[in-house]
Amino acid sequence: MISVRFFPVLCLVLAAASYAHSWYKSPEKDGQPLAAPEPSPYGSLWPLPQEVQISPNAMFIPPAEFTIVHGEGSTAGADCLVLQDAFRRYFDYMFGLLRLKDAPKGLQSSGRLVQLQVTLTAKDNECHKYPSVLSDESYKLMVNGDAAVLEASQVWGALRGLETFSQLVYQDSTGAFLINKTQISDFPRFAHRGVLLDTSRHFLPLKVILKTLDAMAFNKMNVLHWHIVDDPSFPYQSETFPELSNMSADPHLITYHPLTHIYTFIDVRMVIEYARLRGIRVIPEFDTPGHTDSWGKGQKDLLTPCYKDGAPSGTFGPVNPIVNDTYAFMYKLFNEIGKVFPDKYVHLGGDEVNFSCWKSNPDITKFMAEHGFGTDYCKLESYYIQQILGIMSSLGKGYMVWQEVFDNHNQIKPDTIVEVWKGENYNEELYKVTAAGFSAILSAPWYLDYISYGQDWQRYYRIEPLNFNGTEEQKHLVIGGEACLWGEFVDASNLTPRLWY
Ligand SMILES: *[C@@H]1O[C@H](CO)[C@@H](O)[C@H](O)[C@H]1NC(C)=O
Repeated sequence: MISVRFFPVLCLVLAAASYAHSWYKSPEKDGQPLAAPEPSPYGSLWPLPQEVQISPNAMFIPPAEFTIVHGEGSTAGADCLVLQDAFRRYFDYMFGLLRLKDAPKGLQSSGRLVQLQVTLTAKDNECHKYPSVLSDESYKLMVNGDAAVLEASQVWGALRGLETFSQLVYQDSTGAFLINKTQISDFPRFAHRGVLLDTSRHFLPLKVILKTLDAMAFNKMNVLHWHIVDDPSFPYQSETFPELSNMSADPHLITYHPLTHIYTFIDVRMVIEYARLRGIRVIPEFDTPGHTDSWGKGQKDLLTPCYKDGAPSGTFGPVNPIVNDTYAFMYKLFNEIGKVFPDKYVHLGGDEVNFSCWKSNPDITKFMAEHGFGTDYCKLESYYIQQILGIMSSLGKGYMVWQEVFDNHNQIKPDTIVEVWKGENYNEELYKVTAAGFSAILSAPWYLDYISYGQDWQRYYRIEPLNFNGTEEQKHLVIGGEACLWGEFVDASNLTPRLWY
């Protein structure tokens, strides 16, 4: 089938599809799980919609006449920026380079399609809102007669339907545009279909992030998990604490610069709005108490001083959990973050906390004794996490955490989302997290930064996120998955091929 898009975009569509697919439509056929990827009988539709009927009747689309318009009775109109922008974008994807190419005269077809009418039915169609975990992404598409009809309750479903429509358009050997008469009814299997980008280990220029959002939209993925800061650098420019990005990086780290390699408020807003126009949420991650080396450079006394032979060694460990200044700082920082990022959720990290520095520090030892923690450093970690979770709740935000926060018996709010990332026994972990009543996101089998020989995309495709022993109720708590592209060996030069091939 010939490209409906210009070339680089087509590559993304074909490649990315592998793991997005099973999050959308169950990889089953006649009730049997697919043994191996099969070529779709529906041409280039990806991910495969829930219900598809394509007839062998093809219609010509004359691009010079074709329009995408608001349907009669739609609750959306010209002030719905999300749709206006999508109409323009999808027209360009389909016909941009060849818009004057009309059907050659005298060819056989079952008619001409000259319009796509997009109708939103919900009173609260969310045109002027941000997508959320509760957004309705369902839609119906009917391609039949002169005008095709796309119907969705909310604007997010219309975006998914426009993507599907664009995938149905193809060109024949003369270059004429065609679409078959088609009926589609679709909704995603999982509400959270994410990609994690890591901008601390290598800075990613804005345009690479925006390009990733485009590719996500082609695959109907809807969450950018922005792992924005970590040990190596703190590229988020905070208004409250500008020293964090000014000072954060190791001067020898050539992948970072405090003037050019940062995300300003404007940059962040641009990512969030670009994502919103594509129905994608942006969830920032500010990981603590570990993974915070870079924070310590711009915020004095935030990290725990490590000791050696009874004296401070000059090195630092995780965030210092025993001083009030830490929590005053965190309150101010998360208060800002909560306002800059509109999503209900912030990812608070909580993974891989190294206890050796805490163990070396006599003040920490004293604090542990006073609080009856004994020598159980998990209890100290829990104490810290508890304060941070309290701060987030007081700011009206929900939170996501890495699985250790659950594993170390923290008291977390019932609506916490636990991200299961450890490679071993992730099915067992999904069982435990959901048995305790928490929502879970699976990322363990999709660490795309691990490269291996051969076609590893097939392995990603075969993973079934609900393949753990658990009740139906437990399975409902698995709200989706994330493909993680950690940044140790990824920068602007190789991100796109590594993420989407
Ligand atoms: C679309 O219609 C053409 C022309 O009849 C037919 O050859 C093709 O198989 C149809 N495509 C699908 C996916 O049914």
